[in-house]
Amino acid sequence: MKRILILYASSTGNTEEIASLLDKSIDRETFEVVLKNLEMEEVDATQLTQYDGILFGTYTYDDGDLPFETDIFCDNLAAVDLSGKVVGLFGSGDTAYSLFCQAVDTMKTVFAHAHAEVLETSVKIDLDPYEPEDFAAIQKLSREIQHALSVAAAVEENGP
Ligand SMILES: Cc1cc2nc3c(=O)[nH]c(=O)nc-3n(C[C@H](O)[C@H](O)[C@H](O)COP(=O)(O)O)c2cc1C
Repeated sequence: MKRILILYASSTGNTEEIASLLDKSIDRETFEVVLKNLEMEEVDATQLTQYDGILFGTYTYDDGDLPFETDIFCDNLAAVDLSGKVVGLFGSGDTAYSLFCQAVDTMKTVFAHAHAEVLETSVKIDLDPYEPEDFAAIQKLSREIQHALSVAAAVEENGP
């Protein structure tokens, strides 16, 4: 069974809510899912190699920055090879800021440098998920990672 880690940083709960919706949307008959809050649990980036897919969520802080919870994790990630892992990004921000959800884009680059297969579409939600398009975007990301991992499983089983 393929394993998906949903890992997130959230200070006021908005990114956590997206993480929870992603968690609920994944088919448990096909995937094992682990949900972790970066602030609550020490997550060493080397642990990511235990998973086939990673959904990483973060809010954006001061002028488009990553929040403090991601500091150590990102430092460690620089030395990890995530070749063959599928990664999707999500996060909450506030459209009142000019660099809306910039931390999501920063993490996309960080995971690409670690050689992960990063899904093109990232989910960026204005504050908490509320609008129908927010829920649609979350479902789309969920479908995309499940599809990519199912394709990988089929290739492993049957060859390319
Ligand atoms: C001091 C401060 C700076 C922020 N800077 C940004 C920013 O540059 N870009 C952005 O999109 N949102 C910014 N935000 C908004 C948060 O990302 C937003 O409130 C988000 O929903 C918080 O997510 P969380 O509930 O998961 O912590 C900032 C918020 C605070 C308090």
